[in-house]
Amino acid sequence: MKCHCKKSCIDSKEDVLDNIKELYLPCEECTTKRLKKSLPLSRQVKTEKITADYGLCSKCKKRNIDHVMAHILKILMDNNLQSSTASIRKTGTPLITPGMYLERQPFLSENTLVMLIDNIDKKTARIIFEEVPEVKGVLKGNINDTVGQITEKDNVYNYELLAGCDIRCDVQDSDMGQVLVYKQQSKIHVEYPKPESPKILEVKQELEKYDAPTVVDAMCGPGTLGIYALKRNAKKVIFNDVNENAIDNLKVNLEINRIDAAGYEIYNETLEELANSLDAKYDLGLIDAFPDIDTTEYEKQLKKICERVVII
Ligand SMILES: C[S@@+](CC[C@H](N)C(=O)[O-])C[C@H]1O[C@@H](n2cnc3c(N)ncnc32)[C@H](O)[C@@H]1O
Ligand SMILES: [Zn+2]
Ligand SMILES: [Zn+2]
Repeated sequence: MKCHCKKSCIDSKEDVLDNIKELYLPCEECTTKRLKKSLPLSRQVKTEKITADYGLCSKCKKRNIDHVMAHILKILMDNNLQSSTASIRKTGTPLITPGMYLERQPFLSENTLVMLIDNIDKKTARIIFEEVPEVKGVLKGNINDTVGQITEKDNVYNYELLAGCDIRCDVQDSDMGQVLVYKQQSKIHVEYPKPESPKILEVKQELEKYDAPTVVDAMCGPGTLGIYALKRNAKKVIFNDVNENAIDNLKVNLEINRIDAAGYEIYNETLEELANSLDAKYDLGLIDAFPDIDTTEYEKQLKKICERVVII
């Protein structure tokens, strides 16, 4: 994983855990002003006056995410990539880092935001990266683009990194504590942490049926479910994903979550290849495919090497 930031993005686990609760909270001097999300920005503020100081708290140096979005939108308008009547809703998809489930709108500090923007060019992405202190990276892409069936290793999903650095960390809470999920966001799908992740709950219920099961996380992505299983009661986890970038991310996550190397093996194959190359039998197989993908064939294949297969 290559970091293009001034400082290294892969902080130690303690760094993330220590600050996490206060990270996005306002201080007593932060502005309480908000912007209306679907009203044109130009009807709410004089856009030509928007700079990095707009909405900035002089005490804690944070800005409400609305003000950051307004700043980015203003740059998009100046560069003719958004109309002068656009509202901040049009700005793009904000991906905060560390990402976590939040009940209130975040107040952002420097380097805490990777922006995913559909209508963007390299020049404007650089301007956003240089002029908006909260922005750590700018990606070109659309969150609503869906990923199809992946049958080949080279048929994986990518956003384009146009400026800055795209390494993010999502923090997923669980009954076993936090699972830190680092990802190089241009090369891996977006998945938001949830307050009570239904995926983790489902894996938990399955793991509870065993003492120390062996598990195949057959489409592991950056590794959330398998890492959770190892933190819980899995004796061994076989991690596999067709996307080699996901495997790169997984390796960072195993280290950062301090998982003992004796507890896992890693493969970078299609599920079908994996099922045909392993001959041991495992207790539990997990299939966590992208939404709307037909998993019938995956299930059939994984049953060759797992006693029980669960579709997450
Ligand atoms: C929804 S994501 C998994 C997310 C992961 N469980 C997590 O919580 O971090 C689906 C994953 O399946 C992988 N994938 C898609 N088709 C595959 C295939 N045929 N064989 C193996 N992995 C595949 C994708 O690369 C992607 O990482
Ligand atoms: Zn970086
Ligand atoms: Zn403040």
